Amino acid sequence: LSEKIELIRNHVQSFPDFPKPGVLFKDIFSVLREPKVFSVLCDILCKHVKSLPSKIEYVTALDSRGFLFGPIIALDQQVPFVPIRKKGKLPGDICSASYKLEYGEDTLEIQANSIPKGANVLVVDDLLATGGSLSAACSLIESIGAKTVECLIVMELTSLKGREKLKAPVHSLLKY
Ligand code: PRP
Ligand code: MG
Repeated sequence: LSEKIELIRNHVQSFPDFPKPGVLFKDIFSVLREPKVFSVLCDILCKHVKSLPSKIEYVTALDSRGFLFGPIIALDQQVPFVPIRKKGKLPGDICSASYKLEYGEDTLEIQANSIPKGANVLVVDDLLATGGSLSAACSLIESIGAKTVECLIVMELTSLKGREKLKAPVHSLLKY
């Protein structure tokens, strides 16, 4: 497993000073350019989900890069995929949760009746940085009465301590 993880790590390209000076941007799309490496990554994610002690009943992922992985995991598990989107993108009754950005705030939304109360939910995203987005996603799931079994992340920027903002267990493949 560690060899496969290193293969993926070697395919994540880093871009200094993007999107602004001082930030070292980790580009997940460089992994998707190599079908074999993308497939290894999906395989690791799906196997991890199969190994969880509680059965996942719904998979959610965060707009937009979480959508690269969430639906693949949901298909593999044969459970529904439910999107968590940035504000104004979802039709019908919605629930919203705001979170802080470095400057100002942003809002995530989920369709109100998309997940039944008490369901076991997996939350997927590509990156855990400050944890603002994921903690908003988890509070949305809590607000509709469902349960976040795990937050599953491809890359974690450990120095930003985003994990500490989250009540649910966090599993990340690549730590930086
Ligand atoms: C990025 C990344 C995570 C989030 C992590 O998404 O894909 O979702 O930031 O940051 P945080 O832990 O500090 O909240 P972004 O909002 O840039 O949008 P995108 O996924 O649509 O590219
Ligand atoms: Mg994102």
